[in-house]
Amino acid sequence: MVLGQVGAQGMALVGCGSAVPAISVSNQQLSERVDTSDEWIVERTGIRRRHHGGTTSGLAIEAGLAALERAGRRPDEIDAVILATTTPDQIVPGTSAVVQDGMGVTGGAFDVNAACSGFVYALTVAHGLIAAGAAERLVVIGSETLSKITDFTERGVSILVGDGAGAVVVEATDGPGQLLSYRMGADGSLRHLLYCDHGGHLVMNGKEVFRKAVSVVVESSQGALADAGLTADNLDLVVPHQANLRIIGAACQRLGVPEEKAVITIDRYGNTSSASIPLALVDALESGRLQPGMHVLLTGFGGGMTWASAVLKWGG
Ligand code: COA
Repeated sequence: MVLGQVGAQGMALVGCGSAVPAISVSNQQLSERVDTSDEWIVERTGIRRRHHGGTTSGLAIEAGLAALERAGRRPDEIDAVILATTTPDQIVPGTSAVVQDGMGVTGGAFDVNAACSGFVYALTVAHGLIAAGAAERLVVIGSETLSKITDFTERGVSILVGDGAGAVVVEATDGPGQLLSYRMGADGSLRHLLYCDHGGHLVMNGKEVFRKAVSVVVESSQGALADAGLTADNLDLVVPHQANLRIIGAACQRLGVPEEKAVITIDRYGNTSSASIPLALVDALESGRLQPGMHVLLTGFGGGMTWASAVLKWGG
């Protein structure tokens, strides 16, 4: 388990943006292709619709530019693009190179693959660069096109996945709105629970993922809260990975956080892997739920298995 506490140089999230493909697919539409129903999907997962289409780089560029605009920063002020994705456009080059070019960024670019935990992992990498004095300002993006690695003749995974991207601009600052702490971990002996071979489709043991997900989310969240000197009672908002509404409910209950404090976008977006946390963050910002001074928990889990939680104080 990697522990992180903000050291001498702090880091804040100063702008965020998102993008989803135009096509939105309803449960009803999916049930015309596989043996499922709107009732089953809503009751077992909380999903009603999801977006399909686009490319990982295209969605990332759109989200990244929106985040830059909201932060009031130019592409040439960015030291590097860190792209979390498990669905790269190509094996080589890293999709971040396409994103760097498309955004007009002159700094570096690299991909991070920690499956659905990827965005929080990438955020902690960004913090490491900033705390070490190696970077001042970065764009961190989670972008996925899971629909392209999904077998739509199989009802287990196909009802869950969606495509989209979310991005944040992070800066070195000792001012308001800091990342306070984070914890990330992995158990590679569980990699058989969720995987995709080259040229293949996602394969998942849903029941085992569900069981493990709740415990690692709770454990890493409690650890990050303790490192920040906070308890669950201090949390104003929880931005969880959107994999299943029942996982979010169970995790909130075990953490002792009212479920109403969790941001829910799974009904509209499904599971967008590393894009789901930044997409939900943008949703909370745009709906007015995310306010300056709030203590926010970001928490996710995914294939590997991997997990990661971060606590921040929103600066606005
Ligand atoms: N539509 C209709 N029926 C379905 C179905 C579908 N899409 N998928 C499974 N079923 C059926 C099963 O065949 C089973 O029928 P049976 O009782 O007659 O055998 C029944 O529904 C229950 O199946 P089960 O697999 O036990 O459902 P579940 O409650 O575990 O829900 C998941 C399945 C995948 C939604 C759930 O396990 C899950 O969300 N797991 C976590 C997945 C996850 O988080 N993945 C991403 C990681 S980042």
